[in-house]
Amino acid sequence: MDDITGRQDIDASFKLRPSDLDHEFKIAPLAWHLGNLKAAARRRLPRGIFDFIEGGSYDEDTLRANTADLSALRLRQRVLATTPSRNQHTTILGQRASMPVALAPIGFTGVIYPRGEIHAAKAAQAFGVPYSLSTLSTCSIEEVAAAVPAPFFFQFYIFRDRAVNAALLQRAEQAGCSALMVTVDTAVHPRRNRDLDNGMTVPLKIRPRNIMRILMRPRWLAGWLRHRPTLANLAMFVPGGTDLGTVSLWAERNYKGAVGVADFEWVRRNWPRKLVVKGVLDPEDARLAIKLGADAIVVSNHGGRQLDGANTTARAFPAIGDAVGDDAELLFDSGVRSGLDVLKVLGLGAKGCLLGRPFVYGLAAHGEAGVTAALRLVAQDLDQGMALTGVDDVNNLPPGLVIEPTRA
Ligand code: FNR
Repeated sequence: MDDITGRQDIDASFKLRPSDLDHEFKIAPLAWHLGNLKAAARRRLPRGIFDFIEGGSYDEDTLRANTADLSALRLRQRVLATTPSRNQHTTILGQRASMPVALAPIGFTGVIYPRGEIHAAKAAQAFGVPYSLSTLSTCSIEEVAAAVPAPFFFQFYIFRDRAVNAALLQRAEQAGCSALMVTVDTAVHPRRNRDLDNGMTVPLKIRPRNIMRILMRPRWLAGWLRHRPTLANLAMFVPGGTDLGTVSLWAERNYKGAVGVADFEWVRRNWPRKLVVKGVLDPEDARLAIKLGADAIVVSNHGGRQLDGANTTARAFPAIGDAVGDDAELLFDSGVRSGLDVLKVLGLGAKGCLLGRPFVYGLAAHGEAGVTAALRLVAQDLDQGMALTGVDDVNNLPPGLVIEPTRA
């Protein structure tokens, strides 16, 4: 059946078996719940790397509020309307998805786990959800495309030099990337207190304490020494060295910062496929992005890593939904920790969401298998949430599924 939202798709091409969603929780022993993956990630990573993933900017107010505001949403329980079969299949940015979730772009993934981008992309493909590759990845666009046949999204950071930008777009197009996700909420690199405390800066500050913390994580260290990651998409542009420190410094110095209208128009002219703007929190920005040619918007505060004090996506989303209507696909990002959260963001009107830290915990802990474990947990929770809210299809939600937060 061609209709990708059709119920028959449940048994068709994806690897998610009905038994993955049943009550026996077949995912043990890797993880009974996300907390297990997070604890395992903490045990495997040096403190500075774990904090780099976990932390946010400044006092981390927005980071905390992201999860708190999603938790505060209430789902409308419907127990007499439950249906025996439930469909999670949908599309995200035109790509088939076995649930309304895509993996968020995560820079430096190969520092977290050796060749982490390929492990994550493989897990995403096997599970049937889209993968987003960061510009700041340690495996190149071409390496990921060679390892994973499914098209992926390319997250694009704009550099000062148009020739660099043009080369990156051309490589993404040639690799078959189905959408370009331009991140627009990183005009500056705000202070991240944990990273400063840990010396996780560019260049790195090597202190005795950091060396001790690394030596206490021999498995991570062995992976690092074996693979020696760098920023593989950018190394070719950097004169004078291809090591991570040199390339990261080049990236920081050559990064464009604020994305202006002219930059965006240039990207639109040079990218023929779906164009996504990531990092919008305001209805006026959303309308402007659409006017400039965006096909989709990721409503996001960058997982609480940029403007501390920024609104949360849970609060910002409804007004953006009203302003955008059907003019662009809207995805939710920042703070999603479970399938119940996925159900809530669908209830707010999102077509789907990006998942950041939860899959990174799984990756850090167990590589590809850990990402699969994180995705299974999300799918299980989503299915259980659907069962108890009388939702039989993620593409067709009953009205009033979510009791909306106060609009901010
Ligand atoms: C990110 N994020 C990010 N976003 C982006 O557009 N390009 C990037 O390179 C990165 N890198 C990155 C590294 C790490 C370690 C984290 C945790 C996040 C932001 C990411 O795509 C996403 O917006 C957030 O992670 C979503 O929030 P949650 O799901 O982690 O709460």
